[in-house]
Amino acid sequence: MTILDENPRDLDAHSDASYAASRARSQTLHAVIDDPQARGRAGLRVLTGDRPTGPLHIGHLFATLGSRVAIQDKGIESYILVADYQVITDRDSVGDVHGATLGQLADYLAAGIDPARSTVFAHSAVPAIGQLTLAFLSLVTDAELRRNPTVKDELAATDGRPLSGLLLTYPVHQAADILGVHGTVVPVGRDQLPHVEQTRAIARRFNSRYAGGEEYFRAPDALLTDLPVVPGLDGAKMSTSRGNGISLGMTADETASRIRKARTDSERRISFEPDTRPEVASMLRITGLFTGERPDEVAARIGDGGAAALKRELTMAVNDGLAAHRARRAELAADPEYLEEVLRQGNVRAREVAVRTLEDVHDRLGLRL
Ligand code: TRP
Repeated sequence: MTILDENPRDLDAHSDASYAASRARSQTLHAVIDDPQARGRAGLRVLTGDRPTGPLHIGHLFATLGSRVAIQDKGIESYILVADYQVITDRDSVGDVHGATLGQLADYLAAGIDPARSTVFAHSAVPAIGQLTLAFLSLVTDAELRRNPTVKDELAATDGRPLSGLLLTYPVHQAADILGVHGTVVPVGRDQLPHVEQTRAIARRFNSRYAGGEEYFRAPDALLTDLPVVPGLDGAKMSTSRGNGISLGMTADETASRIRKARTDSERRISFEPDTRPEVASMLRITGLFTGERPDEVAARIGDGGAAALKRELTMAVNDGLAAHRARRAELAADPEYLEEVLRQGNVRAREVAVRTLEDVHDRLGLRL
């Protein structure tokens, strides 16, 4: 038996047992983070990231940006990765990755990410992450990579593309993102759990195979968010490519026009029935997220007003709710030199940390010249 044979079921993060274990660890972590003394002692470091595939939308605001800012404001050291090398896992080219990166950065800062306290950096600026990936690839088997349920789902979503080596191995690259900066807390949705489990396995195996049992890498924990997944206007998952989303950077007029064109149904009385009226239900949900009401309360308020009244309510709720964010974002977007400078400084900081990790790893591998 080699190190690679241990707990092969560990990575089956969609299995109930593994999910329950991740949830339990995440809950413990939430408790630690909420306790000022405990979090001070725990030496936590957050690493999280987004693929720069396009503008961030209101789903990101509720699901991730808000909690990142809250964590940062609790004094926990945070690293936020613009995962540019992950863009080509399932498409041919990165597109306007620079524009998308600056747009995302503007949204981070507008949402309250403070570059003095949080380090925003990009894969492509930190080559040490790529080199750590090579070392970590020695610690995984092709069978466990092929089993990764999220990779399988992503492959299935590409309509018959062959499985590229990068798509197959990107969870290991993601482990290098996390361990490269010694991240211990990874705020993610459930779909990313298999990658966190893979990272935990890599940390354990590295320690036992190459570090003589010393706990050089701490196995990170996923911090699961209980926030609702924000649906798109059509009831499906909000996504940039589906055109069913409202991006944070849209103007109020663009928002109104996107909502006006969205499909609903012809029933006049507005009711919250997600199974039979998915579009209407989504619009009620999104309105409620901004107004603080439950979707059925919004529906009751609109009553017989029909789709026109629902869309009016939704447009107002979104545009009012995003006005402050959009004003800050517009100011930042008007100053690309500032955004470039923030990214440059974040890249320098992340590079320093990752290079030190790589040197430590080389030491333990016996690769130091
Ligand atoms: N795969 C993540 C996503 O698509 C982005 C990401 C890249 C990430 N590296 C990461 C998330 C490391 C958490 C930790 O959302």
